[in-house]
Amino acid sequence: MPCQELGRTRGRQPSAASSQHSTARCNILNLGLSMVLLIAVQSSPAKAQTPLAERGLALSKLHCARCHIVSESDRFTGTSSTPSFKIMIEFLKDWEERFGSFMARNPHPAHIRLDGDDPRPEHLPATIREVILSLDDIEAILAYVDQMAVDLGKKQPDD
Ligand code: HEC
Repeated sequence: MPCQELGRTRGRQPSAASSQHSTARCNILNLGLSMVLLIAVQSSPAKAQTPLAERGLALSKLHCARCHIVSESDRFTGTSSTPSFKIMIEFLKDWEERFGSFMARNPHPAHIRLDGDDPRPEHLPATIREVILSLDDIEAILAYVDQMAVDLGKKQPDD
């Protein structure tokens, strides 16, 4: 119920004094509500649900957020020319396949390498600071992406 109507529902015309009083009460009520909302918003950053996905979120922030927005709480990272994880999951039908093979997809081979692979040939240096990922790291990142897809309704929880 909107604040202004509070006085009216009590079945009497509010006097000037009491309407001032109830306006003040309304303001406090509104302030209280917005504080509750603010706290609710602040305390619900993208939270990964399993330890593996949690690790995937941390790794994504470390290694992917340089270019991609990787979670809702990091909306201001990344570069605007690079699609966010969320956009890719929402709008690419084959997002799962693409994430599953991101290491081989451009532009990543220019700077991401699998741990244990041969070092980059000297005549083909990484174009930016090189990132070396292990298979476990990749599994964690994909677990995080999967969870994001479940949250976005793009994947069944146990698919
Ligand atoms: C140096 C910047 C950069 C970093 C770091 C980076 N990406 Fe990307 N990524 C891009 C760009 C740019 C594209 C879009 C390429 C295109 O449109 O062809 C992309 C595309 C992708 C795609 C879609 C690929 C396709 O072919 O459709 C996936 C999946 C992806 N990135 C995952 C990741 C993951 C996971 C990480 C972290 C481990 C990561 N990226 C780190 C720049 C980056």
